[in-house]
This record gives sequence, C-alpha cells and structure tokens, in this order.
Amino acid sequence: MIPTSSDSQIPRSETFGKLCKLPPFRAAAVQILALSSEDDDAMERLENIFGSDPAMATELLAAANSVEFGLRCRISSIRHALSILGVGRTKSLAATIAFSGYLRNQLPREAVRFLWAHGIATAVLAEHLATQAGGSGSLLYTAGLTHDVGRLGLYASSRETYEPLLNLEFRSIDEVNYMERQLLGVTHCVAGGFLTHTWGFPAILSECAQHHHAPPRGAADETHIVKEACLLADSMGFSEIRIQTEAADGDAAKSWENDPLFEKVLCRMQQFS
Ligand SMILES: [Fe+2]
Ligand SMILES: [Fe+2]
Repeated sequence: MIPTSSDSQIPRSETFGKLCKLPPFRAAAVQILALSSEDDDAMERLENIFGSDPAMATELLAAANSVEFGLRCRISSIRHALSILGVGRTKSLAATIAFSGYLRNQLPREAVRFLWAHGIATAVLAEHLATQAGGSGSLLYTAGLTHDVGRLGLYASSRETYEPLLNLEFRSIDEVNYMERQLLGVTHCVAGGFLTHTWGFPAILSECAQHHHAPPRGAADETHIVKEACLLADSMGFSEIRIQTEAADGDAAKSWENDPLFEKVLCRMQQFS
C-alpha cells in the first residue's frame, strides 16, 4: 500500500542528521573518484593511492585478472594493471570496488541487490554514451555508478521508513520522489547531492546524484548522459524502483539480449555480486 501524507513524516533536518551519521567513504576511494584520467600524472597518483590502501590494491588485482578482461598474462602489480588496462579502466574498476565495499559493510546485500544492479548498468551505459560522444568514459562510469547513492543513503540511515517504499510499485519516478518528500522530507536526489558533498566527492558527481531526474537544462551535459543511462538501465530490466509499465519488464529487457553492453553489465555484476 502506498503511504499517505498522514503517515509519520520525518522532518528534513532529522533525515539530514541521520545521513550525516553514516560512516564516511574510504579516503583512498574519494581520492580515486576525484582523479581525472586526463591528468598527466594520473598514473603515478593512482599508484600512490593504491599504495596507501593495500586491501583495495589486492581487490583491484583480483578484478583485473578476472575473466572479464580475458588477459593472457597474469597481472601482478598495480603498475602492471595500469600499463595493461590504462588509467580510465583502472579508475572505473577501483570505483566499483570501493562502492561495492561500502555497500557490503552498510547494507544487507539481498535487500539492495536491485539498486546495485541498476548502478552497474547505468555506469556501463553512461561510459558507453560518453565515449560515443567523445567525452570521458571513466568519469561518466563513476557518475553512473554513484548517481542513486541517495537511495542507498536513505536506506542505510532511515531503513524502517524507506524499506517499505522500495517494495512498492509506482506509476512514475515523480510519484516516488513525492512519496520520499512526504515521508522523509527529501527525495533520494537531494539526499544523494547532500551525501556526496559531505563525503567530498567531486562536484560533478554531486550534480549527477542531485539532478538525474530533473528536466533537461539545455545543452547535453554529464547529468543529461547519466539521466539517459539511468532510463536505458531501466529498459534493460535493471530499474531503480518498481514502475508500472505497459509492456512486461521481461519483454523490454529481451531486446537487449546478445547486446555486448548487456553482456558487459552481466559480467561486471557477476564479478561484484
Ligand atoms: Fe534516481
Ligand atoms: Fe537511476
């Protein structure tokens, strides 16, 4: 049943207060998110960041040696990974490792599995759209991966109120956002903008987290690409919320079968499930 406005409403300030109490994002991960693949010294800086977080370095080597990359030789060091995968792909992998690690520690995996799948699908699709448009694939991958962090934050900080909402079916994203405002005083978009700012994420990631459901604002920018990717992820069958549709989800998802992007999404999901 959809909650009504008479249900207990948590004031906005209380929701922000709870979001503030969530543990901070891993320092090495924030540094990786802030690093631009285009910087001349990006490779050296990435190597230093991994040097400061051996656990993350170990996870990166495991991911780089997975079947997804199908490499003939075994990667044994971060420098080797960087030389084979390049800065962009190494950064995207590192962001995925950091984000999945945070979720693993904060949330019950089963409950947020569909949100994780939506994030991975949006990341892969945003990377693809950005690369096609001649932009930075690795930046948009990260923006896609983290765009719905507000939902995860609300789940982790106000679980009793937010969890029932995630199990409902809605007519549109606007309806979900309305219910979020009714129950928690903020939408997951506002929560995402607030959290990413608090954790020190780059401004562009906060923009995408806060405005990915807003109407287009003129020229296509990063937020626009993330918004497109988010919708495409829904059409692949990886929705961020249950939306009532004319066609069954399965029918829509079928058109993606055998698409290399769909395969890539599945492969990455398997790797980080
Ligand atoms: Fe969203
Ligand atoms: Fe989304």
